[in-house]
Amino acid sequence: MTSISDSLLQKTDFTVEEICSLLKTTGEDNTASLFNRACMVKNTNARQGVHFRGIIELSNICERDCLYCGIRRSNLDVTRFQMTKQQILDAALWTHKAGYGSLVIQAGERRDAGFIDFIEEILREIKQLSCGSLGITLSLGEQSKDVYARWFEAGAHRYLLRIETSDPLLYRQIHPLGYSFEERVACLGYLRETGYQVGTGVMIGLPGQTVAQLASDILFFKKNDIDMIGMGPYIPHHSTPMSQKPANCTENSQFELALKMIAVTRIVLKDVNIAATTALQALKSDGRELGLKAGANIIMPNVTGTEYRTGYQLYDNKPCMDENSEVCRENLVAGIKNAGETVIYGKWGDSKHFFKRRGMESLNDPISINEVSGQERRREQC
Ligand code: 5AD
Repeated sequence: MTSISDSLLQKTDFTVEEICSLLKTTGEDNTASLFNRACMVKNTNARQGVHFRGIIELSNICERDCLYCGIRRSNLDVTRFQMTKQQILDAALWTHKAGYGSLVIQAGERRDAGFIDFIEEILREIKQLSCGSLGITLSLGEQSKDVYARWFEAGAHRYLLRIETSDPLLYRQIHPLGYSFEERVACLGYLRETGYQVGTGVMIGLPGQTVAQLASDILFFKKNDIDMIGMGPYIPHHSTPMSQKPANCTENSQFELALKMIAVTRIVLKDVNIAATTALQALKSDGRELGLKAGANIIMPNVTGTEYRTGYQLYDNKPCMDENSEVCRENLVAGIKNAGETVIYGKWGDSKHFFKRRGMESLNDPISINEVSGQERRREQC
């Protein structure tokens, strides 16, 4: 086995072939060198420490029918739910009091006026209850530019919209006919123009997906100047059209590949935020901690009420189904300490890349609060 070359690891610009060869790293020593380099790049270029974003999965009602997703519209086995405004505000207050600094609001995709108004209203109320100090990320799918702007003005300042795969053909294979890859890319542009910190990501280990496609995914993130990355292994859900386990891919090798994707993305993109996602933990109990050791710096603990957890299963074996927010926090904090990392409380932990691409020099939290339009005004009113 050849050893991974230091000169390759230390490059600043990478071709697709070089990224492929990094993703194909094998052997314990080589993989350790890859992860060590990723952590070195993280420590030099990204925010220090691990930032939490408490995630509220507020509804599993979804208009879309993505072939891989457990809450797709056609899955009639799912009991649909929608949290009430008060339940959402309670979860937000818990997150604020726990010192998490930020919140992610995620739900199935809906584009109707009632839902759009509801989100706008809860954004304003969450900002009020935390005196503007909770940072808010949205993960609510494809919307019009106007809707993105309304939610931004109401207080959200980061948005996650995974591209799922940057290969248009593979994208077509995992979505129903008529779902537009181009529209999804366009949405990332609308989000950036609106002023959001823009997050995207892919699933790793999709049926038929190649390492070359994953390498192109990383170049897609770079070309689109993405600020935040959330990606994890593809895990089949039993009642979807893609319920078959991908051939030739053990859970172990898929997990390893997911960690390498994190490490190589860190090495290529450097100053972005990268999440160690829950899907990693579905394959290995300490999956998220291992994600941090491969170069991730964000964790999204679930703060949804346990009564709703089973209703929000995008894939099988989703972890933390019966752990309440408190237990979930204790386990995570212990695991992170074990991994030799430090949790940073009460800060937004915004992507440094966002400030750099906007030519802003002040990279420190919480100065970022002043720099996102409208946010400071709301703080003063509090
Ligand atoms: N396995 C892994 N991730 C999934 N997602 C949806 N279904 C699955 C699955 N079966 C991810 C998608 C989506 C995000 C909210 O969850 O990447 O963008």
